[in-house]
Amino acid sequence: MIDQRVLPVSFEYLACDSAASVAQAIHDMVVRGAPAIGVAAAYGVALEAMRLHDMPTENFSKDLESGFTILAQSRPTAVNLFWALERMRRVWSSVVKQEQAFVAQHLLAEAHEILAEDIRINRIIGEYGAALLPDEARVLTHCNAGALATAGHGTALGIIRSAHEAGKRISVIADETRPFLQGARLTAWEMMQERIPVTLITDSMAGFMMSHGEIDAVIVGADRVASNGDVANKIGTYMVAVLARRHNIPFYVACPLSTIDMTLPTGDGIPIEERPDSEVKGYNGMHWVPEGVAIRNPAFDVTPAELVTALVTERGVVYQPDKKRLHALWPSTLR
Ligand code: MRU
Repeated sequence: MIDQRVLPVSFEYLACDSAASVAQAIHDMVVRGAPAIGVAAAYGVALEAMRLHDMPTENFSKDLESGFTILAQSRPTAVNLFWALERMRRVWSSVVKQEQAFVAQHLLAEAHEILAEDIRINRIIGEYGAALLPDEARVLTHCNAGALATAGHGTALGIIRSAHEAGKRISVIADETRPFLQGARLTAWEMMQERIPVTLITDSMAGFMMSHGEIDAVIVGADRVASNGDVANKIGTYMVAVLARRHNIPFYVACPLSTIDMTLPTGDGIPIEERPDSEVKGYNGMHWVPEGVAIRNPAFDVTPAELVTALVTERGVVYQPDKKRLHALWPSTLR
């Protein structure tokens, strides 16, 4: 996988060959972004099965089960991780009596399918979302919900890519996204790779830009959406949503159905990851705070559904999301 920790200074790959090494990579943010974490976890399971396939049966099952556990513990907020593991578990159950090599091949095929499906879904989200944007639009985004955060194309940046491909004159305002700088390092880089005009601002400049009429729409991704439409996304998203409402700017959330957690009544139940102090103290080993100062580092916040203009999913655009509208996204046979 691409090592996202070192972008854009260098472009490096990190090889993983087991569930433990993939879990470590997810934990360490080598790979990040909700759908990408899900895809990585699926490959983690497949790699583990391939690694264990010639072991005695009891060891194979026990060790593969441990692989699921270690992957599930890698990060708590993005529900795509648990969604992907659940899907891999269903596949395992369906072939559990077969030869282990066959089980491993089956799990690998499912991981490939999850990856391909994510790209297909992002393209559809892109089409739906692009239709919401005027022919010329300045779009603010927070964090990185691009190709790097998914299997390809992206969710929020997928909409921007699709609109750009459709000939719309889109420019991007990227929040730098303190403290991990996904906007500054990754979104800015992705947009520059494709020559989509991008301007980087610090997070605290969003209100200035909006009050000066320099933003036409906000599009962000999501890590977990509760059944009432509350959205957990990168820390700072809530602040942007409040500002957007104050300035009458549409606030769109691009997310695949795999990011919607219908088991949670509201966003209050979404586990919020607290990350190390070191990320707030400075960057890359350099510290700029007084030694010993108390630090908080919640990595996500929850934007209440009432601030969300619409969710853009592969099954269409859901305006003013609520329980009833989200429920209707699933065909009655799958509910
Ligand atoms: O901590 P990260 O970088 O994994 O957080 C990522 C985000 O918050 C993204 O906006 C979200 O996962 C959507 S990615 C399509």
